[in-house]
Amino acid sequence: MPRIKLEGVSKSFGKITALEQVNFEMQDGEYITILGPSGCGKTTLIKIVAGIWTPTEGRVLVDNKDITNTPMEERDLGYVFQNIILFPHMNVKDNAGYSPRVKGLSEKQIEERSSSAMELVGVLEQQGYLPNELSGGAQQKASLARAIASKARLLLLDEPLSALDARVRVELRYALRRLVKDLNLTAIHVTHDQDEAMSVADRVVIMRKGKIVEIGEPTQLYNQPRTLFTANFVGQSNFLEGTVQLVENGNAAVELRGERFLKVANTGFSIGDPVVLAIRPEHLTLSPEERPNTLRSKIEESRFMGPYTRYRLRAETGDELLVDLPTTEAKVADGSSASVHFNPDFILSYTRPSQGLTEALRLE
Ligand SMILES: Nc1ncnc2c1ncn2[C@@H]1O[C@H](COP(=O)(O)OP(=O)(O)OP(=O)(O)O)[C@@H](O)[C@H]1O
Ligand SMILES: [Mg+2]
Repeated sequence: MPRIKLEGVSKSFGKITALEQVNFEMQDGEYITILGPSGCGKTTLIKIVAGIWTPTEGRVLVDNKDITNTPMEERDLGYVFQNIILFPHMNVKDNAGYSPRVKGLSEKQIEERSSSAMELVGVLEQQGYLPNELSGGAQQKASLARAIASKARLLLLDEPLSALDARVRVELRYALRRLVKDLNLTAIHVTHDQDEAMSVADRVVIMRKGKIVEIGEPTQLYNQPRTLFTANFVGQSNFLEGTVQLVENGNAAVELRGERFLKVANTGFSIGDPVVLAIRPEHLTLSPEERPNTLRSKIEESRFMGPYTRYRLRAETGDELLVDLPTTEAKVADGSSASVHFNPDFILSYTRPSQGLTEALRLE
């Protein structure tokens, strides 16, 4: 069963470095998602694991065996491509049955495998259609069925659900995870969609500009991101630049612009350290009166988001703040003043980046 390891993997296309010194190891049976901005190297990474690309540098190991130069057809994997690639002259059923047929299974086995895969993803009714007679979403399901019917131990899924509508997409993402867990497969699933990445994965790999920024379990990445980039890319965060002025029992007083102070719990920082504070919009509250650890702010805009309302405020420090309040709470009018309360336990603190905050957060 596959335990995959990438050692110092880089890939260049002429002058473009698509991957740079990627080190990564995943366990047998793990469901990994890869999340990162467009062009960060997700497809390149998955193609190297598949054997479609050979790395410019580094090695790929499966169960400690070096497979860096093993061709794709000799690797036991099911692949869903980012651009749906079905055999155009074969109907859905024959596409799904392709891999079992190549493996020389009996007609009965081919029938069983392709039918159960088509049923799982919901394309049984379209089994007689050619790819160009299907909607984008149905084509994507057909290519998922083909990957599943291959019964490969390793599933490589590159944006496998992107063409589906929202509800089907959510249903299928859980079906995929269940399949991987029930059959004890291993999966690498590339996605742009952070909800998808967080809700199906055992661990999420965050990538940026050809490098792995951070790997962690979904809750860890959300609650304790190790980098400013992740705090910004996974969910929303507010960021405030400041300097530590006082440290007492692990609590710090951080001076922000406008000579305002916030208390922050459990920082490892010392007096004089330049820091960036980060806090999620749902961890801020509005209070009508002044309290400790608040910033006076003015509401510039509010937006109804269904379960919550998102307020955009301008704080007295000049910083923009986003605050999410449950829609069940009374609405606060645009243009009114409010104090934004910061719970010290929910504030994360980071070293202020030398390249500047904007650059550290940028999603290119
Ligand atoms: N065959 C190729 N020839 C030249 N450059 C390539 C090739 N494939 C990828 N690249 C470049 O490598 C970088 C990483 O591309 P990749 O397709 O891996 O990104 P991605 O993270 O999958 O992006 P997206 O989310 O848009 O699918 C990009 O700058 C891309 O232009
Ligand atoms: Mg891609």
